[in-house]
Amino acid sequence: MFEVIKQEGRARRGVFTCPHGTAQTPVFMNVGTQGAIKGAVSAHDLKDIGCQIELSNTYHLHLRPGDKVVKELGGLHKFMDWNGPMLTDSGGFQVFSLASLRKIKEEGVHFSSHIDGRKIFMGPEESMQIQSNLGSDIAMAFDECIENPAPREYVERSIARTTRWLERCVIEHKRLNELPDCVNPGQMLFGINQGGTYADLRVQHMEDIAKLDCDGYAIGGLAVGEPTQVMYDIIDAVEPHMPKEKPRYLMGVGTPSNIIEAVARGVDFFDCVMPARNARHGKLYTWKGTINIKNEKYKLDTRPIDETCTCPACQHFSRAYLRHLVTAGEMLAMRLAVLHNLHFYNELMQRIRDSLDNGTFEEFRATYSGMLD
Ligand code: GUN
Ligand code: ZN
Repeated sequence: MFEVIKQEGRARRGVFTCPHGTAQTPVFMNVGTQGAIKGAVSAHDLKDIGCQIELSNTYHLHLRPGDKVVKELGGLHKFMDWNGPMLTDSGGFQVFSLASLRKIKEEGVHFSSHIDGRKIFMGPEESMQIQSNLGSDIAMAFDECIENPAPREYVERSIARTTRWLERCVIEHKRLNELPDCVNPGQMLFGINQGGTYADLRVQHMEDIAKLDCDGYAIGGLAVGEPTQVMYDIIDAVEPHMPKEKPRYLMGVGTPSNIIEAVARGVDFFDCVMPARNARHGKLYTWKGTINIKNEKYKLDTRPIDETCTCPACQHFSRAYLRHLVTAGEMLAMRLAVLHNLHFYNELMQRIRDSLDNGTFEEFRATYSGMLD
């Protein structure tokens, strides 16, 4: 269930409810690809950093430990001990990221496992079955994430196939939810818009998939090679054709500025590996801009990473200590940095929501868009 409770321009403040709870939107989903956040962060830590929705991945969990194993152990919520809302991505992104290891056919995609080369087939039905076994609250449709730029003729054929795949997802998803041993019978299904950088194809594809009445809609295939302004233009083109009463999810995006600009264009859900990846490389977010904690100038700096931050790292430790841990190659450095950056992203969303509640989002946007990356 989704309700838009306030709007400022095209920006939306909403409340989303699914079998494992409620999320306030706009929301950032914290990425735990393999059932853990990279950087030694567990589901218990997620509560402390303000995470509302956890995101895991169909492809990775199918390979290891296997979705049937997870189902036998009671589903992914129980397995990783996360009791809140959870979304699983479909494997469609791996069609892009593992391009050298796969072959696309009408029936689905033949992958060679990136772990041991084992042959794997994943089509719409398999993706729905895996996500049903994992028991997530939101299953994503199986799509082809196309790299940008791509030839127009290729994109036309690909989006027609992604629409046919969505029709198959809808049928299989409904069948699985009605089985007596279904892990999460209230699981929702979100469709995914594609169309590369061609605004007219994006609109046509959005209109086609909107007819299939999914529980929400995502914009995929962005932040995969195109300039930032092209991404904004595509969101501007697609947004008017997305159902108003359903959640909208911009997949795999992005920087704090990207998120603020996409909220301004009517997007409700986000996810990105960037904050955790940046943390592992020492790039940390503050409300005055990013810092690199490896820098010599923090050697004797007794301040926390950000003086206003309430994360577990900033509550107890100095920049000088963190810099020392990084320099000494201590694993704790990574964990504290990841906790801080994810807390920052969740705090960013909280401040966006507060500004929407107060009718001051445009002021927030003017202050921070372009400032925090
Ligand atoms: N994550 C980021 N982009 C995409 C996309 O286009 N499709 C899917 N399934 N996942 C994504
Ligand atoms: Zn912090």
